[in-house]
Amino acid sequence: MTRRLMLIGGGLTVAGLGADAALQLRKGPYDAALARMGRPLPVAPGMADLVRYATLAANGHNTQPWLFSAGEGGVTVRPDFSRRTPVVDPDDHHLFASLGCAAENLSIAARARGMGGEVEASAPDAGLHVDLTPGTEEPQPLLTAIPERQSTRGLYDGSKLGTEEAGRLVRAAAAHGVEALYLDAPERIEEVLALVIEGNTRQVNDPAFVTELKAWLRFNPVQAAQRGDGLFAGSSGNPSLPGWLGPRLFDLVFTADAENGKCAEQLRSSAGLVVLVAPEDNPRGWVAAGRACQRVMLQATLDGLKCAFLNQAVEVPAMRAELRRLLGLGERRPNLVLRVGRGPALPKSLRRPVAEVLQG
Ligand SMILES: Cc1cc2nc3c(=O)[nH]c(=O)nc-3n(C[C@H](O)[C@H](O)[C@H](O)COP(=O)(O)O)c2cc1C
Repeated sequence: MTRRLMLIGGGLTVAGLGADAALQLRKGPYDAALARMGRPLPVAPGMADLVRYATLAANGHNTQPWLFSAGEGGVTVRPDFSRRTPVVDPDDHHLFASLGCAAENLSIAARARGMGGEVEASAPDAGLHVDLTPGTEEPQPLLTAIPERQSTRGLYDGSKLGTEEAGRLVRAAAAHGVEALYLDAPERIEEVLALVIEGNTRQVNDPAFVTELKAWLRFNPVQAAQRGDGLFAGSSGNPSLPGWLGPRLFDLVFTADAENGKCAEQLRSSAGLVVLVAPEDNPRGWVAAGRACQRVMLQATLDGLKCAFLNQAVEVPAMRAELRRLLGLGERRPNLVLRVGRGPALPKSLRRPVAEVLQG
Protein backbone atom coordinates (compact mmCIF):
# COMPACT_ATOMS: atom_id res chain seq x y z
CA MET A 1 0.00 0.00 0.00
CA THR A 2 1.40 3.43 -0.86
CA ARG A 3 2.00 6.02 1.83
CA ARG A 4 -0.85 8.13 0.43
CA LEU A 5 -3.25 5.21 0.56
CA MET A 6 -2.15 4.46 4.10
CA LEU A 7 -2.89 8.04 5.14
CA ILE A 8 -6.30 7.99 3.48
CA GLY A 9 -7.00 4.56 4.94
CA GLY A 10 -5.87 5.72 8.38
CA GLY A 11 -8.10 8.80 8.21
CA LEU A 12 -11.08 6.74 7.11
CA THR A 13 -10.41 4.22 9.86
CA VAL A 14 -10.42 6.94 12.52
CA ALA A 15 -13.65 8.35 11.08
CA GLY A 16 -15.02 4.82 10.97
CA LEU A 17 -14.11 3.99 14.54
CA GLY A 18 -15.83 7.18 15.71
CA ALA A 19 -18.86 6.14 13.72
CA ASP A 20 -18.64 2.64 15.22
CA ALA A 21 -19.31 4.08 18.66
CA ALA A 22 -22.29 6.05 17.30
CA LEU A 23 -23.67 3.01 15.49
CA GLN A 24 -23.46 0.89 18.64
CA LEU A 25 -26.04 3.29 20.11
CA ARG A 26 -28.43 2.39 17.29
CA LYS A 27 -28.23 -1.35 17.83
CA GLY A 28 -31.87 -1.67 18.92
CA PRO A 29 -33.19 -3.36 15.75
CA TYR A 30 -30.18 -5.71 15.64
CA ASP A 31 -30.73 -6.76 19.26
CA ALA A 32 -34.46 -7.17 18.64
CA ALA A 33 -33.77 -9.43 15.64
CA LEU A 34 -31.36 -11.53 17.71
CA ALA A 35 -33.95 -11.94 20.47
CA ARG A 36 -36.61 -12.98 17.92
CA MET A 37 -34.28 -15.54 16.32
CA GLY A 38 -32.81 -17.14 19.41
CA ARG A 39 -35.89 -18.00 21.50
CA PRO A 40 -35.72 -21.62 22.75
CA LEU A 41 -37.79 -24.19 20.86
CA PRO A 42 -41.17 -24.54 22.62
CA VAL A 43 -42.16 -27.95 23.99
CA ALA A 44 -44.97 -28.09 21.43
CA PRO A 45 -43.51 -26.09 18.53
CA GLY A 46 -45.60 -24.74 15.68
CA MET A 47 -44.43 -24.74 12.07
CA ALA A 48 -42.98 -21.22 12.45
CA ASP A 49 -40.82 -22.34 15.39
CA LEU A 50 -39.48 -25.35 13.49
CA VAL A 51 -38.68 -23.23 10.45
CA ARG A 52 -37.02 -20.61 12.65
CA TYR A 53 -34.71 -23.33 14.00
CA ALA A 54 -33.95 -24.48 10.45
CA THR A 55 -32.95 -20.96 9.39
CA LEU A 56 -30.37 -20.72 12.18
CA ALA A 57 -28.21 -23.06 10.08
CA ALA A 58 -24.94 -22.07 8.46
CA ASN A 59 -25.32 -20.94 4.85
CA GLY A 60 -22.95 -19.50 2.25
CA HIS A 61 -22.58 -15.67 2.46
CA ASN A 62 -25.67 -15.77 4.73
CA THR A 63 -27.85 -15.46 1.61
CA GLN A 64 -30.36 -17.87 3.19
CA PRO A 65 -31.14 -19.52 -0.17
CA TRP A 66 -34.23 -21.36 1.05
CA LEU A 67 -38.02 -21.33 1.02
CA PHE A 68 -40.17 -23.55 3.22
CA SER A 69 -43.61 -24.87 2.37
CA ALA A 70 -45.78 -26.70 4.84
CA GLY A 71 -47.58 -29.68 3.34
CA GLU A 72 -49.14 -33.03 4.11
CA GLY A 73 -47.22 -34.52 7.06
CA GLY A 74 -44.15 -32.38 6.72
CA VAL A 75 -42.33 -29.40 5.36
CA THR A 76 -40.35 -28.98 2.14
CA VAL A 77 -37.14 -26.96 2.09
CA ARG A 78 -36.79 -25.65 -1.47
CA PRO A 79 -33.87 -23.84 -3.11
CA ASP A 80 -34.36 -20.11 -3.67
CA PHE A 81 -32.27 -19.67 -6.80
CA SER A 82 -32.77 -15.89 -6.68
CA ARG A 83 -30.23 -16.02 -3.83
CA ARG A 84 -27.48 -17.84 -5.73
CA THR A 85 -23.89 -16.62 -5.60
CA PRO A 86 -22.83 -17.58 -9.13
CA VAL A 87 -19.24 -16.34 -8.92
CA VAL A 88 -18.06 -18.10 -5.77
CA ASP A 89 -20.47 -21.01 -6.26
CA PRO A 90 -21.08 -21.51 -10.00
CA ASP A 91 -22.45 -25.08 -9.70
CA ASP A 92 -24.66 -24.30 -6.64
CA HIS A 93 -22.65 -26.70 -4.47
CA HIS A 94 -22.78 -24.30 -1.51
CA LEU A 95 -26.45 -23.52 -2.13
CA PHE A 96 -27.38 -27.20 -1.82
CA ALA A 97 -25.01 -27.69 1.12
CA SER A 98 -26.78 -24.77 2.83
CA LEU A 99 -30.15 -26.47 2.27
CA GLY A 100 -28.64 -29.57 3.87
CA CYS A 101 -27.56 -27.53 6.91
CA ALA A 102 -31.11 -26.15 7.31
CA ALA A 103 -32.77 -29.55 6.83
CA GLU A 104 -30.49 -31.05 9.47
CA ASN A 105 -31.49 -28.44 12.05
CA LEU A 106 -35.15 -29.05 11.21
CA SER A 107 -34.73 -32.80 11.51
CA ILE A 108 -33.04 -32.51 14.91
CA ALA A 109 -35.75 -30.13 16.18
CA ALA A 110 -38.55 -32.40 14.88
CA ARG A 111 -37.11 -35.57 16.43
CA ALA A 112 -36.54 -33.81 19.74
CA ARG A 113 -40.25 -32.96 19.81
CA GLY A 114 -41.56 -36.40 18.91
CA MET A 115 -41.92 -36.07 15.13
CA GLY A 116 -40.42 -38.36 12.49
CA GLY A 117 -37.69 -35.99 11.29
CA GLU A 118 -36.72 -38.21 8.32
CA VAL A 119 -35.23 -36.16 5.46
CA GLU A 120 -36.10 -37.23 1.90
CA ALA A 121 -33.48 -35.74 -0.41
CA SER A 122 -33.50 -37.83 -3.57
CA ALA A 123 -34.24 -34.85 -5.88
CA PRO A 124 -32.83 -31.73 -4.19
CA ASP A 125 -33.80 -29.41 -7.07
CA ALA A 126 -37.43 -30.01 -6.08
CA GLY A 127 -36.65 -29.61 -2.38
CA LEU A 128 -35.87 -31.67 0.72
CA HIS A 129 -38.91 -33.08 2.50
CA VAL A 130 -38.73 -33.33 6.29
CA ASP A 131 -41.26 -35.69 7.90
CA LEU A 132 -43.24 -34.08 10.72
CA THR A 133 -45.70 -36.90 11.39
CA PRO A 134 -45.90 -38.08 15.01
CA GLY A 135 -43.11 -40.48 15.94
CA THR A 136 -41.24 -41.38 19.06
CA GLU A 137 -39.62 -38.57 20.98
CA GLU A 138 -35.83 -39.06 20.79
CA PRO A 139 -33.48 -37.02 22.97
CA GLN A 140 -31.35 -34.83 20.68
CA PRO A 141 -28.30 -33.52 22.54
CA LEU A 142 -27.43 -31.29 19.55
CA LEU A 143 -30.72 -29.34 19.90
CA THR A 144 -29.41 -26.90 22.52
CA ALA A 145 -26.45 -26.02 20.30
CA ILE A 146 -28.66 -24.84 17.39
CA PRO A 147 -29.27 -21.26 18.63
CA GLU A 148 -25.78 -21.02 20.11
CA ARG A 149 -23.72 -22.11 17.08
CA GLN A 150 -22.00 -19.50 14.97
CA SER A 151 -19.20 -19.28 12.43
CA THR A 152 -16.51 -17.77 14.63
CA ARG A 153 -14.03 -16.04 12.35
CA GLY A 154 -11.63 -14.75 15.02
CA LEU A 155 -8.33 -16.11 16.30
CA TYR A 156 -8.33 -19.24 18.47
CA ASP A 157 -5.94 -20.06 21.31
CA GLY A 158 -3.76 -22.60 19.48
CA SER A 159 -4.51 -25.50 21.83
CA LYS A 160 -5.02 -28.96 20.31
CA LEU A 161 -8.12 -31.16 20.56
CA GLY A 162 -8.01 -34.34 22.59
CA THR A 163 -8.44 -37.63 20.69
CA GLU A 164 -11.96 -38.01 22.08
CA GLU A 165 -12.97 -34.46 21.07
CA ALA A 166 -11.66 -34.90 17.53
CA GLY A 167 -13.31 -38.33 17.36
CA ARG A 168 -16.70 -36.88 18.29
CA LEU A 169 -16.47 -34.39 15.40
CA VAL A 170 -15.56 -37.12 12.93
CA ARG A 171 -18.41 -39.35 14.15
CA ALA A 172 -20.90 -36.46 13.95
CA ALA A 173 -20.35 -36.32 10.18
CA ALA A 174 -20.61 -40.07 9.69
CA ALA A 175 -24.37 -39.96 10.40
CA HIS A 176 -24.99 -39.19 6.71
CA GLY A 177 -22.33 -41.35 5.10
CA VAL A 178 -20.00 -38.37 4.83
CA GLU A 179 -16.36 -38.79 5.72
CA ALA A 180 -14.78 -36.14 7.93
CA LEU A 181 -11.00 -36.03 7.84
CA TYR A 182 -9.46 -34.42 10.89
CA LEU A 183 -6.08 -32.84 10.14
CA ASP A 184 -3.84 -31.41 12.84
CA ALA A 185 -0.27 -32.33 11.90
CA PRO A 186 1.56 -28.99 11.45
CA GLU A 187 3.12 -29.97 8.10
CA ARG A 188 -0.28 -31.06 6.71
CA ILE A 189 -1.88 -27.83 7.95
CA GLU A 190 0.81 -25.83 6.13
CA GLU A 191 0.21 -27.81 2.92
CA VAL A 192 -3.51 -27.04 3.06
CA LEU A 193 -2.77 -23.42 3.98
CA ALA A 194 -0.69 -23.04 0.81
CA LEU A 195 -3.74 -24.09 -1.24
CA VAL A 196 -6.04 -21.80 0.77
CA ILE A 197 -3.70 -18.89 0.09
CA GLU A 198 -3.45 -19.61 -3.63
CA GLY A 199 -7.25 -19.94 -3.86
CA ASN A 200 -7.76 -16.78 -1.84
CA THR A 201 -5.32 -14.84 -4.01
CA ARG A 202 -7.22 -15.83 -7.15
CA GLN A 203 -10.57 -14.92 -5.58
CA VAL A 204 -9.51 -11.54 -4.19
CA ASN A 205 -7.92 -10.62 -7.53
CA ASP A 206 -11.13 -11.46 -9.40
CA PRO A 207 -13.28 -8.29 -9.67
CA ALA A 208 -16.46 -10.37 -10.14
CA PHE A 209 -15.77 -12.24 -6.88
CA VAL A 210 -15.23 -8.97 -5.01
CA THR A 211 -18.37 -7.37 -6.45
CA GLU A 212 -20.47 -10.38 -5.46
CA LEU A 213 -18.99 -10.51 -1.95
CA LYS A 214 -19.48 -6.76 -1.46
CA ALA A 215 -23.17 -7.05 -2.32
CA TRP A 216 -23.63 -9.33 0.71
CA LEU A 217 -21.60 -7.27 3.20
CA ARG A 218 -23.56 -5.47 5.92
CA PHE A 219 -21.29 -2.82 7.35
CA ASN A 220 -23.16 -2.04 10.57
CA PRO A 221 -25.92 -3.44 12.80
CA VAL A 222 -28.52 -1.11 11.30
CA GLN A 223 -27.86 -2.42 7.77
CA ALA A 224 -27.73 -6.00 9.07
CA ALA A 225 -31.11 -5.64 10.78
CA GLN A 226 -32.74 -3.87 7.81
CA ARG A 227 -31.97 -6.78 5.50
CA GLY A 228 -31.78 -9.66 8.00
CA ASP A 229 -29.24 -11.41 5.77
CA GLY A 230 -25.65 -11.04 4.55
CA LEU A 231 -22.30 -10.86 6.27
CA PHE A 232 -22.41 -8.49 9.24
CA ALA A 233 -19.04 -6.78 9.85
CA GLY A 234 -19.13 -7.55 13.57
CA SER A 235 -19.46 -11.28 12.86
CA SER A 236 -16.08 -11.18 11.14
CA GLY A 237 -14.52 -9.22 13.99
CA ASN A 238 -14.58 -5.93 12.05
CA PRO A 239 -15.73 -2.54 13.39
CA SER A 240 -19.09 -1.16 12.26
CA LEU A 241 -18.94 1.59 9.66
CA PRO A 242 -21.55 3.97 8.23
CA GLY A 243 -23.09 2.80 4.96
CA TRP A 244 -21.31 5.53 2.93
CA LEU A 245 -17.87 4.67 4.37
CA GLY A 246 -17.94 0.85 4.54
CA PRO A 247 -17.65 0.11 0.80
CA ARG A 248 -14.93 2.75 0.32
CA LEU A 249 -12.79 1.48 3.18
CA PHE A 250 -13.37 -2.09 2.03
CA ASP A 251 -11.92 -1.21 -1.40
CA LEU A 252 -8.79 0.11 0.30
CA VAL A 253 -8.14 -2.70 2.77
CA PHE A 254 -9.42 -5.81 0.96
CA THR A 255 -6.21 -6.97 -0.73
CA ALA A 256 -4.86 -10.45 -1.37
CA ASP A 257 -1.86 -9.82 0.91
CA ALA A 258 -3.98 -8.61 3.81
CA GLU A 259 -6.54 -11.42 3.48
CA ASN A 260 -3.86 -14.09 3.05
CA GLY A 261 -2.15 -12.86 6.22
CA LYS A 262 -5.45 -13.18 8.10
CA CYS A 263 -6.07 -16.70 6.75
CA ALA A 264 -2.59 -17.83 7.84
CA GLU A 265 -2.94 -16.33 11.30
CA GLN A 266 -6.42 -17.78 11.76
CA LEU A 267 -5.46 -21.26 10.61
CA ARG A 268 -2.24 -21.35 12.64
CA SER A 269 -4.24 -20.35 15.74
CA SER A 270 -6.63 -23.27 15.21
CA ALA A 271 -6.46 -26.76 16.69
CA GLY A 272 -7.03 -28.40 13.33
CA LEU A 273 -9.12 -28.73 10.20
CA VAL A 274 -12.14 -30.85 9.37
CA VAL A 275 -12.50 -31.64 5.66
CA LEU A 276 -15.90 -33.05 4.70
CA VAL A 277 -16.08 -35.51 1.82
CA ALA A 278 -19.46 -36.79 0.56
CA PRO A 279 -19.77 -40.12 -1.27
CA GLU A 280 -21.16 -38.57 -4.48
CA ASP A 281 -20.45 -35.33 -6.32
CA ASN A 282 -23.95 -34.11 -7.21
CA PRO A 283 -26.71 -32.14 -5.42
CA ARG A 284 -27.59 -35.20 -3.30
CA GLY A 285 -23.98 -35.48 -2.14
CA TRP A 286 -23.74 -31.71 -1.54
CA VAL A 287 -26.88 -31.82 0.63
CA ALA A 288 -25.37 -34.73 2.59
CA ALA A 289 -22.15 -32.75 3.05
CA GLY A 290 -24.17 -29.80 4.39
CA ARG A 291 -26.13 -32.02 6.79
CA ALA A 292 -22.93 -33.59 8.09
CA CYS A 293 -21.20 -30.23 8.35
CA GLN A 294 -24.06 -28.79 10.40
CA ARG A 295 -23.79 -31.76 12.80
CA VAL A 296 -20.03 -31.26 13.13
CA MET A 297 -20.52 -27.57 13.97
CA LEU A 298 -23.27 -28.38 16.49
CA GLN A 299 -21.13 -31.07 18.13
CA ALA A 300 -18.23 -28.61 18.32
CA THR A 301 -20.54 -26.02 19.92
CA LEU A 302 -21.74 -28.58 22.44
CA ASP A 303 -18.11 -29.35 23.32
CA GLY A 304 -17.28 -25.66 23.86
CA LEU A 305 -15.31 -25.43 20.61
CA LYS A 306 -15.53 -22.80 17.88
CA CYS A 307 -15.37 -23.33 14.14
CA ALA A 308 -15.31 -21.34 10.92
CA PHE A 309 -15.12 -22.16 7.23
CA LEU A 310 -11.92 -21.80 5.23
CA ASN A 311 -13.27 -22.86 1.85
CA GLN A 312 -10.99 -21.17 -0.66
CA ALA A 313 -9.25 -24.46 -1.49
CA VAL A 314 -12.54 -26.17 -2.33
CA GLU A 315 -14.08 -23.21 -4.17
CA VAL A 316 -11.37 -22.64 -6.80
CA PRO A 317 -11.40 -25.70 -9.11
CA ALA A 318 -7.60 -25.91 -9.60
CA MET A 319 -7.00 -25.79 -5.83
CA ARG A 320 -9.77 -28.31 -5.23
CA ALA A 321 -8.04 -30.76 -7.60
CA GLU A 322 -4.78 -30.31 -5.68
CA LEU A 323 -6.49 -30.77 -2.32
CA ARG A 324 -8.12 -33.94 -3.61
CA ARG A 325 -4.68 -35.28 -4.60
CA LEU A 326 -3.05 -34.15 -1.35
CA LEU A 327 -5.67 -35.96 0.73
CA GLY A 328 -5.75 -39.04 -1.53
CA LEU A 329 -9.49 -38.74 -2.18
CA GLY A 330 -9.47 -40.40 -5.61
CA GLU A 331 -12.60 -39.32 -7.49
CA ARG A 332 -14.34 -37.92 -4.41
CA ARG A 333 -14.75 -34.16 -4.04
CA PRO A 334 -13.58 -32.35 -0.91
CA ASN A 335 -16.79 -30.45 -0.14
CA LEU A 336 -16.20 -28.13 2.80
CA VAL A 337 -13.30 -27.14 5.06
CA LEU A 338 -13.79 -26.07 8.68
CA ARG A 339 -11.15 -24.92 11.11
CA VAL A 340 -11.85 -25.70 14.76
CA GLY A 341 -10.41 -24.59 18.06
CA ARG A 342 -11.05 -22.60 21.20
CA GLY A 343 -11.62 -18.86 21.25
CA PRO A 344 -14.02 -16.06 22.13
CA ALA A 345 -17.44 -15.75 20.47
CA LEU A 346 -18.19 -12.88 18.08
CA PRO A 347 -21.45 -10.99 17.46
CA LYS A 348 -24.03 -13.21 15.75
CA SER A 349 -25.17 -12.90 12.15
CA LEU A 350 -28.89 -12.29 11.61
CA ARG A 351 -31.69 -14.12 9.81
CA ARG A 352 -34.74 -12.83 7.95
CA PRO A 353 -38.09 -13.19 9.75
CA VAL A 354 -39.74 -16.60 9.30
CA ALA A 355 -42.70 -14.97 7.50
CA GLU A 356 -40.37 -14.10 4.60
CA VAL A 357 -39.39 -17.71 3.97
CA LEU A 358 -42.40 -19.80 5.06
CA GLN A 359 -45.11 -20.22 2.45
CA GLY A 360 -48.50 -21.89 2.79
C1 LIG B 1 -21.75 -24.10 2.17
C2 LIG B 1 -21.18 -23.01 3.02
C3 LIG B 1 -20.04 -22.33 2.62
C4 LIG B 1 -19.48 -21.33 3.44
N1 LIG B 1 -18.31 -20.72 3.07
C5 LIG B 1 -17.73 -19.83 3.90
C6 LIG B 1 -16.44 -19.31 3.63
O1 LIG B 1 -15.80 -19.66 2.64
N2 LIG B 1 -15.90 -18.42 4.49
C7 LIG B 1 -16.56 -18.03 5.63
O2 LIG B 1 -16.03 -17.23 6.40
N3 LIG B 1 -17.78 -18.53 5.93
C8 LIG B 1 -18.36 -19.42 5.10
N4 LIG B 1 -19.58 -19.96 5.42
C9 LIG B 1 -20.25 -19.53 6.65
C10 LIG B 1 -21.37 -18.55 6.37
O3 LIG B 1 -20.88 -17.31 5.93
C11 LIG B 1 -22.20 -18.42 7.64
O4 LIG B 1 -22.78 -19.66 7.93
C12 LIG B 1 -23.29 -17.37 7.50
O5 LIG B 1 -22.73 -16.09 7.35
C13 LIG B 1 -24.19 -17.37 8.73
O6 LIG B 1 -23.44 -17.15 9.89
P1 LIG B 1 -23.40 -18.18 11.09
O7 LIG B 1 -22.81 -19.47 10.59
O8 LIG B 1 -22.55 -17.53 12.12
O9 LIG B 1 -24.81 -18.39 11.56
C14 LIG B 1 -20.13 -20.97 4.64
C15 LIG B 1 -21.29 -21.66 5.03
C16 LIG B 1 -21.80 -22.68 4.24
C17 LIG B 1 -23.00 -23.45 4.71
